[in-house]
Amino acid sequence: MSRYLSKSVQSLRPSGIRRYFDIAATMDDVVTLGIGEPNFVTPAHILEAGVQSLRDGHTGYTSNAGVYELRAAIADLVEGRYGIRYEAEDEVLVTVGVSEALYLALKVLLDPGDEVLVVEPCFVANPALVETAGGVAVMTPTYVEDDFQVTGEALEARISPRTKAILLSYPSNPTGAALTLEHLMQVAEVAEKHDLVVISDEIYERLVYGLRHINFATLPNMFERTIVLSGMSKSYAMTGWRIGYVTAPRTFTEAMYKIHQYLIMSAPTMGQAAALEAIRCGEGDVEEMRQEYDRRRRLIVEGFNRLGLTCFEPRGAFYTFPSIAITGMDDETFCETLLEEERLALIPGSAFGESGRGFVRASYATSEANIMAALERLERFLSRRGLLQARAAPALVS
Ligand SMILES: Cc1ncc(COP(=O)(O)O)c(C=O)c1O
Repeated sequence: MSRYLSKSVQSLRPSGIRRYFDIAATMDDVVTLGIGEPNFVTPAHILEAGVQSLRDGHTGYTSNAGVYELRAAIADLVEGRYGIRYEAEDEVLVTVGVSEALYLALKVLLDPGDEVLVVEPCFVANPALVETAGGVAVMTPTYVEDDFQVTGEALEARISPRTKAILLSYPSNPTGAALTLEHLMQVAEVAEKHDLVVISDEIYERLVYGLRHINFATLPNMFERTIVLSGMSKSYAMTGWRIGYVTAPRTFTEAMYKIHQYLIMSAPTMGQAAALEAIRCGEGDVEEMRQEYDRRRRLIVEGFNRLGLTCFEPRGAFYTFPSIAITGMDDETFCETLLEEERLALIPGSAFGESGRGFVRASYATSEANIMAALERLERFLSRRGLLQARAAPALVS
C-alpha cells in the first residue's frame, strides 16, 4: 500500500525519541528523564482564563492571525524585552505552537531543492520539517569542545548556490547551550554576506541561567531577514494549549498567514485566552519555574559529573547533555541497556543529529525525586561495570 504515499513521506524517518517512550511504556517502575516538556501544571490563573473563555461561550474560531489583543500583547512583550517593534496588525501571527510556525516559515521560503543550514544537535522536527517543506536540510554540527556554539566557519563551509536560510534554535534542545554574542554575530555575518534568511526558534528564551537572552532580530542588520519563533509551551508550562507565535517583517508574516488561514484557520481559542492572561500576568510564574529549573539543573549537572559522565554546563532550556564516553558504548546501546537493566529512560544524543553521538539527553523538567532516583540508577549501572569514577564535580559558571 505504501506505493500510494508520496516519496517525501516515505523517506521521512520516525523520531528517534518516540521509540524509547514506546519501549518504556511497556515497563513498570520506569524513571524517565526523556520528557521535553514542563512537569508543572499551567499556573491556576492562566488555566482559569482558558476555562472562563469556554464558559463565556467563546467556542468558535478567532480571527485567522489570532485575537488582536493577544497579538498586541505579544508585540508589546517583545518590544519591552528586546526594544524592537513589530506591528500587531501584520507582523505578529499566532500559531498552533512553534511547531506550526516552523513549518510555515520553511514552507514560505523554500522552493524544491532549496537548502537550509540546520544547526545541530537540534530539535528532532527541524530536519524533518525542512524536508516536508520541500527543502534539503544541510546539517551543520556543533561540538562540546566549542560549548556547542555554531561557528561562522562551519556555516560558511556548507553554503551553496541553493542555500536559502539558516535554522537556529538557542537555547538549545537538546544541549542546553545558549549562543554567545560573539557566535550570534558570526551567524549574522554569514547571513548578510550570502543574503540568507534566519529562522530563529527562541522557544526557550525565558529559561536561561545567569545570562540574558539575545533576540536574533536585534543584531545589526538582522531585523529585515529574521523570522523569530516563540511561544507559550515551555516558559509558561502550556504545551497542551498549543499556542506559539511568529514575529517577523510583514513580507514573511503575510506569506505565512496565507498558508495558516487555509491549513489551520486559527489557533485554539481557549489557548489564546490563556496566553493573553499569561503574557499580562504570568511574569511571576515564569520566574518561579525558572528558579526551580535552575535548582534542578545544578543538582543534575553535578550528579552526572560526579559519576564521571562529563556534562557540559547548560545555560538555558531544561536539558542536560552528558557524555557517555567512559562507558565505551554507543549512545543507542547505552540507552537501550540502561532502560532494560535499570528502567531509566534517557534519549540517545544521535536522535538529535550526528554530532549528538556519544551523548545522551536528560531533561530536568521533572521532580527532584525523579532526578535523584535517576542518578542512583545510573550509579548502579556504572558501578556494575566497574566504571564508577567518583570525582569532584567542577563548579558551574552560573
Ligand atoms: C526547540 C523546540 N522548538 C519547538 C518545539 C515545539 O514547541 P511547541 O509546543 O510550541 O509546538 C520544541 C518542543 O520540544 C522545541 O524543543
